[in-house]
Amino acid sequence: MRSRRIGFKLPKIPSSEITSESAYLCRREFMKAGSLLFAGGLVSGGSIPAFSSVSGSEVALPEGWALGSSDALTPYEDVTSYNNFYEFGMDKSDPARYAHELTLSPWQVQIEGEVEQPRTINLEDILAATQEEERIYRLRCVEAWSMVIPWNGFSLAEFIRWLKPTSKAKYVYFETAYRRKEMRGTRSFSSVIDWPYREGLRLDEALNPLAFMATGLYGKPLPAQNGAPLRLVVPWKYGFKSIKSIVKIRFTETQPKTSWQGIAPHEYGFYANVNPDVDHPRWSQRYERRLPSSLWNPNRIPTQLFNGYGEFVADLYKGMNLARYY
Ligand code: MTE
Repeated sequence: MRSRRIGFKLPKIPSSEITSESAYLCRREFMKAGSLLFAGGLVSGGSIPAFSSVSGSEVALPEGWALGSSDALTPYEDVTSYNNFYEFGMDKSDPARYAHELTLSPWQVQIEGEVEQPRTINLEDILAATQEEERIYRLRCVEAWSMVIPWNGFSLAEFIRWLKPTSKAKYVYFETAYRRKEMRGTRSFSSVIDWPYREGLRLDEALNPLAFMATGLYGKPLPAQNGAPLRLVVPWKYGFKSIKSIVKIRFTETQPKTSWQGIAPHEYGFYANVNPDVDHPRWSQRYERRLPSSLWNPNRIPTQLFNGYGEFVADLYKGMNLARYY
């Protein structure tokens, strides 16, 4: 994987040296030992940052928030075997079983809409234009399970600035690949999604420094079941916003239609911010099950507003009724 280090840097162990889960866990212990690893007073009180950057970033990253004591990294095996990727089936184990059928190379992303230069870009060119970073984020699914995942990738804000949207752009729309031959879930008669899978963000949300484009996890290339080769990660929103295997990005003036809104608009809103006070009709959002969990060890923890990232994102929703704009 690329590993360039520019600007301020955080941990002393570069991601290129981190190749295994045990190395990550080791490093996490190292991080736990104190804030000394984090230059520039990024972390207060010996805590662990909510996200970290190995390579640094040109985008100003917010400072000071910590992962909680219950935020141990979810083991690689769980992150890559318990997935939602309906293009490959409805069962949690289907993506790990079938996603390898997706051809990942060559991969291109079509850029269209309100942008200076609509074009189709090779993934390699996107990677060459952006800085690789590592971010450790909680991922909270609307089904009330959650994980803590060390991602590799690049800042969405940095990517968008490189793409140069016009002043008319107010939203960003994302689309997943739709290949019936390679995605057996899209051929299923029981599938409820009107393919391709679609998602969107308000432009200011997309420009928030926390929004991330993942190309890897645990220092390894992104497994197909996790959305290879390129997926969105929006840690303060329910997981369904974090669209996988992206082939199209469109800048729009109006709010784009998303897949889940199309299926059940009363259940899934455009914003989908993690919020323990706004329940989904089928899942209370008050608590979540931090994976791995079992009948004997349910690992139930209280859900936090904006998944605990409110300090960095609450301003985006100032004055908005979060129960109405769910
Ligand atoms: N993206 C696509 N294209 N198709 C999907 O079915 N599922 C979403 C999201 N992105 C989904 C998707 C949901 S519901 C969740 S919770 C996360 O992916 C799960 O990501 P993970 O499997 O990497 O944990």
